[in-house]
Amino acid sequence: MDAVKTVNLVKIYQDKGKTEALKGVNLLVRKGELFTLLGPNGAGKTTFLRIISTQLLPTSGEAYVLGFNVLDEYEDVRRHIAVVPQDVATYGNFTPWEYCYYFSLLRGMSKLKAKENSEKALKAVELWNLKDRACATLSGGEKKRAIIALALASDADVLMLDEPTSGLDAVTRRKVWAVLREMVEEGKTILLTTHIMEEAEMVSDRLAVIDRGRLIAQGTVEEIKGLTREKFRVIAEGDLKALEKLVSSSFSVSFGNRRIIYVDDGDEAVELVKKALKCGLKAEASPITLEDIFVRLIRGEYDDWKND
Ligand SMILES: Nc1ncnc2c1ncn2[C@@H]1O[C@H](COP(=O)(O)OP(=O)(O)O)[C@@H](O)[C@H]1O
Ligand SMILES: [Mg+2]
Repeated sequence: MDAVKTVNLVKIYQDKGKTEALKGVNLLVRKGELFTLLGPNGAGKTTFLRIISTQLLPTSGEAYVLGFNVLDEYEDVRRHIAVVPQDVATYGNFTPWEYCYYFSLLRGMSKLKAKENSEKALKAVELWNLKDRACATLSGGEKKRAIIALALASDADVLMLDEPTSGLDAVTRRKVWAVLREMVEEGKTILLTTHIMEEAEMVSDRLAVIDRGRLIAQGTVEEIKGLTREKFRVIAEGDLKALEKLVSSSFSVSFGNRRIIYVDDGDEAVELVKKALKCGLKAEASPITLEDIFVRLIRGEYDDWKND
């Protein structure tokens, strides 16, 4: 059975503009994987997460969590999930320890189990030494980690985290990635949203790219990278005229005197670098990143893959 499954999920907010936040989303998260919903601001990520976590009603379509329908069986859904919302406030008087411990009790855990889980979760997010400080005195990143610990401490099978690392510095972000991967190794299923490509690339088993309410690609990082013919890129820098000469039929983008040129394979990339160096340009080659693909998908260069 799938961890999360949606069929033609549509959400139209009934505001003046009748915003179509989700335009028929078919998404599948398998049990035991870390699945990332990657998209720019306003893509519909939070809307999607709120519907499958039973906080918001869809306009049409179906959504299931571990086979339970989010509409008719929302109590079963809630029993199996832990959610970290995007903009979450902490009660300032609570300490991280109290948060984890009491919320675990609220979820029906025994005192012993709640203690064990809270300790493990707080250690995982590296808040153990701050566990008895009031949340009001913690930094933004520390508060965020306290909330993440709450989800980790729960015995929920499926964790849903809405941009869990936004606002965190690079070092803390990577710590959170490590914690999430550890949870997945232990058998949890994680669905997280992000607009950070590197995050999606580093942490996901599979991901979906969403833009303006539509899924435009879904699969492993490798599968999504496979959507473009070009597998390498060369960044060249220097004299504009020389740059012009360098670019042949390849797809490229420029930023002033710097240019990214996309080529099919490593051999072609090496040839291009040699040529660039001969022309007195600086140049280096590397495999394409998810960000390269993302920009092209969002620009609609790959209409074939759009699922509408
Ligand atoms: N409560 C709401 N009422 C009306 N429109 C909304 C509401 N919440 C979100 N939207 C709109 O729906 C779209 C998707 O928003 P959201 O799901 O928050 O995107 P994301 O989380 O990817 O940034 C945006 O255009 C946003 O303005
Ligand atoms: Mg959001």
